[in-house]
Amino acid sequence: MKSLVDKLEKERILSRDEFKQLLSEKNEYLFERARAVRHEVYGNEVFMRGLIEFTNYCKNNCYYCGIRAGNKNAQRYRLSRAQILECCELGYELGFRTFVLQGGEDPAYTDFVEIVKDIRTAYPDCAITLSIGEQSYETYKTLFEAGANRYLLRHETANDAHYKQLHPEGMSLENRKKCLWNLKEIGFQVGCGFMVGSPGQTMDCIVDDLRFIHELQPAMVGIGPFIPHKDTPFKDCKAGDFQLTLRLLAVLRLMKPDLLLPATTALGTLDPQGREQGILAGGNVVMPNLSPVDVRSKYMLYDNKICTGDEAAECRSCMQWRMVSIGYDVVISKGDPICIM
Ligand code: 5AD
Ligand code: FES
Repeated sequence: MKSLVDKLEKERILSRDEFKQLLSEKNEYLFERARAVRHEVYGNEVFMRGLIEFTNYCKNNCYYCGIRAGNKNAQRYRLSRAQILECCELGYELGFRTFVLQGGEDPAYTDFVEIVKDIRTAYPDCAITLSIGEQSYETYKTLFEAGANRYLLRHETANDAHYKQLHPEGMSLENRKKCLWNLKEIGFQVGCGFMVGSPGQTMDCIVDDLRFIHELQPAMVGIGPFIPHKDTPFKDCKAGDFQLTLRLLAVLRLMKPDLLLPATTALGTLDPQGREQGILAGGNVVMPNLSPVDVRSKYMLYDNKICTGDEAAECRSCMQWRMVSIGYDVVISKGDPICIM
């Protein structure tokens, strides 16, 4: 097992069987090396991103997701342009220098490009990250030219058959991947990612994910455990494995030492110390919530999501405190990846 960790650190990729073996059991050395590599590149710094969940309308119907169009129990909301800008203003005061605008695929925002331009003009020293799903090449390009720098689009699974188990007709892995390549070509810093333990996922699917990530070479990878939502077709499925998620974070750190790797809210939902554990496994990003408190509980992708009752300032200081408690430091910075090539 030690030799597999060393091999991964050196070659940044393993064969299918080697990955499966490495992921199959507990391995302290894996975490040790992931932490060491993380410290070589980023020291003890943790980047903070302010997450603004601006709409929970979504035209898609992914089987796992609590804000899927088919969930009639979801109370829908949209933040106005003014409300989004207020979130940024508060975020800036609190020390955020990256704003992540995340939402369902909501065609109602016909002036979205203008919103991005407003943020760009008001905050020239900040990064703007978008996470608004699959769009056309032209839309992505217009958003980039309006001032957005980064784009998060989890691929969800790199295995075609598994993708079909998670999504209804009309959505395809092929288009998902195409979007990611388009975003990269346009010049975005791109983030992909997947859920650990989503229904139907096998170890082979996970290896497919790792190999796809190796091919795409994204700047960021968002992974978190799958957690069932009561109003979805997957309501009776079990949640993803916490330890396996941590192992995957460590593997990703070794595969790409400069990777931006968040310790996600889903990880923090499965375990009260989940985000701390995620950082200790090699993560280097946290994404406290900047959305107005009255909409938070409506952005329920999965059951029991944490941080839904806290003000932005509370989340921010809570996160700082959590990071300090494990020997890390939250920094006020855009938090671009450090180039080590
Ligand atoms: N459990 C965990 N993560 C989920 N996501 C959506 N639904 C769930 C769920 N039930 C993740 C998806 C999506 C991201 C915004 O949230 O990976 O890309
Ligand atoms: Fe919109 Fe899942 S239903 S992303």
